[in-house]
Amino acid sequence: MNLKSILYTVFFLSVGIADAGAQEVSLLKSELVGDRIAQFIPKGFDKTRTPSLILAAELKSKGKLPSDWSLIPEFTLKNNKAGAVLHLKGEVSLYGGGEVTGPLLRNGQAIKLWNTDTGAYSVEGGKRLYQTHPWVMGVRPDGSAFGIIFDSTWKAELITNSDKIIYNSEGALFRIYIIDRKSPQEVIKGLSELTGTIKLPPRWALGYHQCRFSYDSEKRVMEIADTFREKKIPCDVIWMDIDYMQGYRVFTFDSIRFRNPKVLNDNLHKKGFRAVYMIDPGVKADKEYSVYKTGTQNDVWVKQNNGEEYHGKVWPGDCAFPDFTNPEARKWWGGLYKDFLSTGIDGVWNDMNEPAVNDNDFPEDKRLGTMPYDTPHKGGGNLPQGSHLLYHNAYGRLMVEASYDGILKSNPTKRPFLLTRSNLLGGQRYAATWTGDNFAGWDHLKLSVPMSLTLGLSGQPFNGPDIGGFLGDTSGDLWANWLGFGALMPFARGHACAGTNNKEPWAYGPEIEKTSRIALERRYRLLPYLYTLFYESSKTGMPVMAPVFFADSKDSRLRAEEQAFLLGESLLVIPAFAKDPILPSGIWEELNLIEGEEQDKYQAKLRIKGGSIIPAGAIIQNAGENSFDPLSLYVCPDQNGNAIGELYVDSGDGFGFQKGDYALVTFTAEKKKDSVLVKATGKLGKRNIDQEITKIKVQLLLDGKTYQGSGTLKDGITIAVN
Ligand code: NOJ
Repeated sequence: MNLKSILYTVFFLSVGIADAGAQEVSLLKSELVGDRIAQFIPKGFDKTRTPSLILAAELKSKGKLPSDWSLIPEFTLKNNKAGAVLHLKGEVSLYGGGEVTGPLLRNGQAIKLWNTDTGAYSVEGGKRLYQTHPWVMGVRPDGSAFGIIFDSTWKAELITNSDKIIYNSEGALFRIYIIDRKSPQEVIKGLSELTGTIKLPPRWALGYHQCRFSYDSEKRVMEIADTFREKKIPCDVIWMDIDYMQGYRVFTFDSIRFRNPKVLNDNLHKKGFRAVYMIDPGVKADKEYSVYKTGTQNDVWVKQNNGEEYHGKVWPGDCAFPDFTNPEARKWWGGLYKDFLSTGIDGVWNDMNEPAVNDNDFPEDKRLGTMPYDTPHKGGGNLPQGSHLLYHNAYGRLMVEASYDGILKSNPTKRPFLLTRSNLLGGQRYAATWTGDNFAGWDHLKLSVPMSLTLGLSGQPFNGPDIGGFLGDTSGDLWANWLGFGALMPFARGHACAGTNNKEPWAYGPEIEKTSRIALERRYRLLPYLYTLFYESSKTGMPVMAPVFFADSKDSRLRAEEQAFLLGESLLVIPAFAKDPILPSGIWEELNLIEGEEQDKYQAKLRIKGGSIIPAGAIIQNAGENSFDPLSLYVCPDQNGNAIGELYVDSGDGFGFQKGDYALVTFTAEKKKDSVLVKATGKLGKRNIDQEITKIKVQLLLDGKTYQGSGTLKDGITIAVN
């Protein structure tokens, strides 16, 4: 042992770095790059080896770190593999990591970052899923919080011990950003300042979605759509899974079962439905197939080191894969959407984009369910050439960037709706997500709450599980329990795997059908509130579905609560399965939206927070119908008799809102002696809503009693209380 290594050993023992074989790498630079956001760059960092695919924009220096800045990461190298550790002082509650199984509170957890197709979350004990979010948030006992981004896409592991956060990658040195602010909400805002927010979705995307692998003919699709309308169960979207394609060739339609997609989509539109179709990245290597032919002409495919096209097996057999690191390939891919969407398709579902490859030509440890690690990617633009080990975790994210751009270009006056299975921290800028192939069982039902919460705490508010469970048969009891709270999650879609039982709201008999109708009517009544939350999230990055501790980050009792959740700040949702949930203190009045819901054992309980006003709409069958006949305001005063709430209204699609065609109305309520006055006290935006909202009904929830009132926006509403 030479002197240098003795010194290193002594140093590492003293600072407690987990891996004693690692060398410390000193800092090249540390500086502020935002409001209490610091950047740390290690000596030897080279952005042509670790480009940022996470940040929304290049960062500019905002000067030196303040002298009291306490969170300084340490970088390490071991056998040329970069890592970092952040030592923590005192008790800290840890969150984040993106799409994860396990608890909401992440102290003592370890996950692998290598996007993987993992049916029933079975690979590596559920510690490796479809997405990569090298991001952790810590909340201190005083309610202040910090967050750390490891800006790398290399294959990695993320360990969240109570005394230190460790990130070990298999690649080159990377940058770190740390946000240190006064609350978890402020930290999440900081995350969105670095990585961007979702785009405001079309309003229909907040409705209920019905999916199956697959509704496999035009006739079956219309049967499903018609049944929703006949039974008066609200629904906005029917999904086309892979079987609509001709032999699983993407961007084609089966010549018999989906021979006239334009007519199908028109018919769906006439009944107030939207149509979302799946597109996978694997393109059948078939010389007669136009997509393969033009891809070859444009030289877009991933190649092996010997220059030959890389082929891997997916649904259609041997497939070539676009190299989405290459801007030309992204442009070509985006261009494929124009004709496809011209059939009246409203939204796109990108699946299998880890990318998942099902062949066994390579030993498992050289590919882990995808292309071999050393497969080269071309890069271009800001991206260097690099191996699959660098780009794998960004493949889905780059695919959805290409899809998003292509969809927007094809239909420039509509807001794109794109769902993706694989993604990367920051990828919320392009696509919503769902939590992949879960299983129809109680454990996955319960797990769906912390999974969605954690995604929301990792920059992705627009997410949800396959309600009912994808794999395995679903019982009526499980379905009803799941829908009873799943209908209140940001993305609400029922889905089912091929070979499993029917999983539509009416598939389990009349009792469960009734329960399902109530659950979905509740969602549709809450659409005005939900849409307002999505609008806010598109501005600030705030999760739509938030953990209960967001109600009071100083209240240590709430830190691990993962059964109940918040929708925005004002609504608490307590799923029927919840046993002894730990709820925030203060005023939280019971809120009922639909007749008969109190007697229905499957519906989640709702509580409105003291001090808030929740805007709700009429029961409608799809988001295109009028929510405001009438507009309902649920008013729950705080201990001083005051309440406040917001309502966002726009045309529901398109980009008029960016030019001022929206209204963001503030409602306030004030209690005076024996009456409460509710009125609109402020309005942003140019949209005139006087014609749109002509009737308002108020329900005042005060000290366990309910009072009613009604009136107009202009005059305000006074309610007598006694
Ligand atoms: C895998 C997806 O996770 C699942 O949702 C889909 O139904 C199947 N692929 C078939 O496309």
